[in-house]
Amino acid sequence: MSGLIRPVKYRDGFSGDSLFERIAKDIEARGLSIQSGALPDKLTSSLWHHQSHMEKSDFKTAGIGRAQNYLRDDNIRGDEICWITGESLAGRQWLKWAAQLQQYLNRRLYLGLFSFESHFSHYAPGTFYRKHRDTFRGETNRILSMVVYLNREWSIGDGGELILYRCEDDTQGISVQPSWGTIVVFLSKEFPHEVLPSKRDRYSVSGWYRLKTGDSTGLGDAYLAPI
Ligand code: OGA
Ligand code: MN
Repeated sequence: MSGLIRPVKYRDGFSGDSLFERIAKDIEARGLSIQSGALPDKLTSSLWHHQSHMEKSDFKTAGIGRAQNYLRDDNIRGDEICWITGESLAGRQWLKWAAQLQQYLNRRLYLGLFSFESHFSHYAPGTFYRKHRDTFRGETNRILSMVVYLNREWSIGDGGELILYRCEDDTQGISVQPSWGTIVVFLSKEFPHEVLPSKRDRYSVSGWYRLKTGDSTGLGDAYLAPI
């Protein structure tokens, strides 16, 4: 056996080389995982196909805050969103995949993730989302944020990068191209982040794993925590 490198096998059946395991390892080590082009291609295609056939009226201008605190401000975020409720096949496939990751992370990291809320986003040219956190004021129940991207052939000059900051003092951040099948997962309360102005139509799916506790008013938009 010496000299032979084998993927780590955990007693409970976790395989050291799976996508879910790579995400788990990253979250454990640094609270953040970026997996370029890693979403199963069938699922990325299905999501892309679905959103590209949606009616313009299915998308709503995104706001900030929940329920009575909800407001809209183009200077903060300019994307349009459509919540995923599982009515479409693509939506169901996505929610199933997200549930599998949820189960894996719960078993592996004991995160106690209970539910998942998720929406399609479309950033038209010139739109952006200023620096924010994904947690609501006074709420701690969004634990893990996830974004996947549905843009084929994204180039550096197209803008629309996601910039993740490790802390308040991090001015440089980590830049992610919103390219086809790339998955970003991070601890919601740890990483302020922003979407730089996009020069092209930019498509993605954002989602959040939540704890059971706390306010559960249902679907809402991310609150922009003052930085
Ligand atoms: C969000 C968000 C990042 C992205 O929807 O809250 O920060 O890259 N999205 O689309
Ligand atoms: Mn966000």
